[in-house]
Amino acid sequence: MEQPQQSAGPEEAGAEAGKPPLRVGMVGYAFMGAAHSQGWRTAGRVFDLPLSPVLTALCGRDAAAVRAAADRHGWATTETDWRALIARDDVDLVDICTPGDSHAEIALAALAAGKHVLCEKPLANTVEEAETMTRAAETAFATGGQLAMVGFNYRRVPATALARRMVAEGRLGRLRHVRVTYLQDWLNDPEFPLTWRLRKERAGSGSLGDLGAHIVDLAQHLVGERLAGVSALTETFVRQRPLPGGPSSGLAAGAGRAGTATVTVDDAAVFTGRFASGALASFEATRYATGRKNALRLELNGERGSLAFDLERLNELWFHDATEPAVHAGFRRILVTEPDHPYLEGWWPPGHGLGYEHTFVHQARDLVHAIAEGRVPQPSFAEGLQVQRVLAAVEESAEKNSVYTPIAD
Ligand SMILES: NC(=O)c1ccc[n+]([C@@H]2O[C@H](COP(=O)([O-])OP(=O)(O)OC[C@H]3O[C@@H](n4cnc5c(N)ncnc54)[C@H](O)[C@@H]3O)[C@@H](O)[C@H]2O)c1
Repeated sequence: MEQPQQSAGPEEAGAEAGKPPLRVGMVGYAFMGAAHSQGWRTAGRVFDLPLSPVLTALCGRDAAAVRAAADRHGWATTETDWRALIARDDVDLVDICTPGDSHAEIALAALAAGKHVLCEKPLANTVEEAETMTRAAETAFATGGQLAMVGFNYRRVPATALARRMVAEGRLGRLRHVRVTYLQDWLNDPEFPLTWRLRKERAGSGSLGDLGAHIVDLAQHLVGERLAGVSALTETFVRQRPLPGGPSSGLAAGAGRAGTATVTVDDAAVFTGRFASGALASFEATRYATGRKNALRLELNGERGSLAFDLERLNELWFHDATEPAVHAGFRRILVTEPDHPYLEGWWPPGHGLGYEHTFVHQARDLVHAIAEGRVPQPSFAEGLQVQRVLAAVEESAEKNSVYTPIAD
């Protein structure tokens, strides 16, 4: 086994003086790895945390590449096998930033080794895996006090956190409609290669698990309730795509025209749902909405008012107060940058907006507090499992001509 490599840079200094460290080991260092690194690096510099996150070890499979990534993102040491990372005594928390096919194996091993776990969404590729992970997390909490959280970071946009607060305070009254879409367009080009996100055995599902998981979690979080059942349509618009590494990349299964292979996941999912309280919900997740880059949009309509949000304008929350006289009522923009708004106490003066990356700082902050207080963080693995059940019900409904499919408990 390769020995951990120590790096000498000053960035790798240990914990903040006077605070116990939380030593993090992270697996995967591409998109989410970079975002999580930023979160761990920054949280303790913006917020007064009870523990000081330390970027102890970064894991990837290529020694030179992981060393370069560690230097870029501020990690002290590297590993090339996640099992070695988990075996280390100087790692308290394992952060899983790999594709869904490795979430269960890494999380189960980390919990068994006594580590806390942060796992990217969707929690797993199947309900069965998510059930096993949830049971393991609950046992680890009961026996060793370890904590496990799923990375549904869109709960931690200040505007969505404010929306949650306003719904909970009753500002919207009884909810009637929950309308959520998550629109991207990066698959519209039929020559875009068949990466892991387009393979069922690696990603579990397509737009559904990637984007749909986020909006199901966010909708349920905002409403404060679980979906009771769904009716769904899914579609794969482009069924053959070029192999990422060209014709000789070894991806033989499902190969069609020379140098291409079959897409085995959905390209888009459209579904409706019912909340137990009677509110109706609609969801759309697609990577083919030309012109929409990361448009997670939601609107909630209640008997006392409405809220609207668009991730492409994430410092803004729109509120209509239906109790005001119609003569001057209307949607008004709340610029969510005031010190009293969620997460804003540590940031900039009013009007100096935040961005996508800050959600990962807030995620790290909230997890550190939960660990210091010994309470189960949200979203827990149990919440990740419930989202997985919704995704499974969407797939089942789509296979059965959109028949209404209750969500299993
Ligand atoms: N929260 C969000 O907004 C968000 C956004 C994008 C992706 N994700 C989720 O994050 C996860 C990772 O997605 P990504 O976009 O970062 O993917 P990515 O392809 O950019 O990165 C995946 C990383 O995992 C590494 N990896 C894969 N298998 C590994 C193994 N066995 N051992 C060590 N490293 C391994 C790869 O080398 C790479 O560094 C997925 O579950 C995805 O759904 C979440």
